[in-house]
Amino acid sequence: MTPITPSWLESTVFYELYPQSFLDTNSDGIGDIEGIIRKLDYIKSLGANAIWLNPCFASPFRDAGYDVEDFYAVAPRYGNNADLVRLFEAAHQRGMKVCLDLVAGHTSDQHPWFRSSCSAKRNKYSNWYVWTNSVWEEGDNMIRGYGDRDGNFLTNFFYHQPSLNYGYANPDPTKPWQLPVSHPDVQAVRAELFKIMRYWLDLGADGFRVDMAHSLVKADPDLKETMAFWADVRAMFDLDYPEAVLMSEWSDPAKAILAGFHVDFMLAFGKPPAYTSLLRKEKGRDLNPSAQDGHSYFDKEGKGNIREFLDTYLEHYLIIKDKGYITIPTGNHDCPRLAMGRTQEELMTVFAMIMTMPGIPFIYNGDEIGMRQVECLISKEGGYSRTGARTPMQWDRTLNAGFSDAASSNLYLPVDPDPGRPNVYDQESDPMSLLNVVRRLARLRKEHSALCADGNFIPLYAEPGKYPFIYQRSNASGDFVIAINPSAQPVQASFCGSHRIGSLHKIEGNKVRCQVVNADFQLEMPGISYAIFKCGAPFGSGLRNNN
Ligand code: NOJ
Ligand code: CA
Repeated sequence: MTPITPSWLESTVFYELYPQSFLDTNSDGIGDIEGIIRKLDYIKSLGANAIWLNPCFASPFRDAGYDVEDFYAVAPRYGNNADLVRLFEAAHQRGMKVCLDLVAGHTSDQHPWFRSSCSAKRNKYSNWYVWTNSVWEEGDNMIRGYGDRDGNFLTNFFYHQPSLNYGYANPDPTKPWQLPVSHPDVQAVRAELFKIMRYWLDLGADGFRVDMAHSLVKADPDLKETMAFWADVRAMFDLDYPEAVLMSEWSDPAKAILAGFHVDFMLAFGKPPAYTSLLRKEKGRDLNPSAQDGHSYFDKEGKGNIREFLDTYLEHYLIIKDKGYITIPTGNHDCPRLAMGRTQEELMTVFAMIMTMPGIPFIYNGDEIGMRQVECLISKEGGYSRTGARTPMQWDRTLNAGFSDAASSNLYLPVDPDPGRPNVYDQESDPMSLLNVVRRLARLRKEHSALCADGNFIPLYAEPGKYPFIYQRSNASGDFVIAINPSAQPVQASFCGSHRIGSLHKIEGNKVRCQVVNADFQLEMPGISYAIFKCGAPFGSGLRNNN
């Protein structure tokens, strides 16, 4: 059967939504599903037509909901299952999609399956998690002495997130507790995951972002068994849910897309990681707090190297191009805010690139107004250094920035205390605000299919250690040239015209001088600027300016 890609994906812009911090409608200080429903029109106004909702299921919330206690129930603090169905319906009425977060690899230690698994008495769930046969047996990522059961359990992330048992690709014969993937109990866990997915898809969900999707099968060095599992999941999607999307937190598109995912996030892949080299290389701004100091391409110092991003990106892009999509997110709930150390103008250059690259753009809620990283917060729900990127959405200048009517001391997290913090209301009325630039860029993308997910991507100027970065997007309906100069210095670059790039007409961006000399285009760009050009027929020889 030919793999099926949901028809809506090609022109989609996603909005990642952290429900705790979005909008509180019952004054308990925590965002809720009703709040999301009330803001659907706002999300749509951004040009985003799909939502990735961080986990909203019953949980003790020791990892912000990535510690699920019941996969079939919405956490009461957000509402109930009927509310989530209402959200699906309200989104669908607006032509929007809602995708859920599927924590496939582990549960909370409070999940009834795990509690049963902890029992010294054998039961249905004994093998649903990975346990050694004795507490004295050493192993990596094993938690010792947890309960009455004589064994250590394998954990996936925090200690309270025991790994569900998807089996071992190469079980060690000296460790009989390492079950093969064909073991009936392992098969039962896998069947349960299918059941969970069907449950929500049947209720109207439009797909899933899968947490740590690469981590399921253990002792699987080439990830063959993990990929085989996801291929089975994709077969179910193709057959029964062809319009639903499967997106992975895998960070290896060449593997994830071949395994069956439609979309993979570009976060940690490459050496140095391509995403980090592009957007977050400096200490404190990286996903990894012990990152080396350095410069990302989007630092105004102009010391970044576009090739660190591009070479890795192209390697993966060329493999997956006709099979699925890479996403370059503006950020997420795990990494420091994009706005850290950047002005609104600098953020515009980032959005200009993210919104004109192939694949699917993801906007992390609040990045569209340049919400800041809030420093020095006490960790909330296992956020630790991630907490500062999870503060309440800033809607306006009223109490708690319009996030909640609760007393400020009762909020999920404090609102950014900076008196100059950005907010939606103020940016709405300013045509030059980041919010409105994001909207214009999203609109442009939608209006021109060459700028959407499938349009070809051809780098035109991408020199090591140099600025700007210039590339072409094209398909049968037209050609576009995008030039991005994140450095504070004015820069110049030239690239060859072609029968597809005969002349350039700027349709968005800053003042950029463009000359045609013979067949070459020469661009002069001011510091911190971008320009999007539509390509036209050749002007003929001579000079042309295009401001
Ligand atoms: C990745 C999620 O994005 C992160 O927030 C979570 O803590 C871990 N996976 C564990 O589920
Ligand atoms: Ca609430």
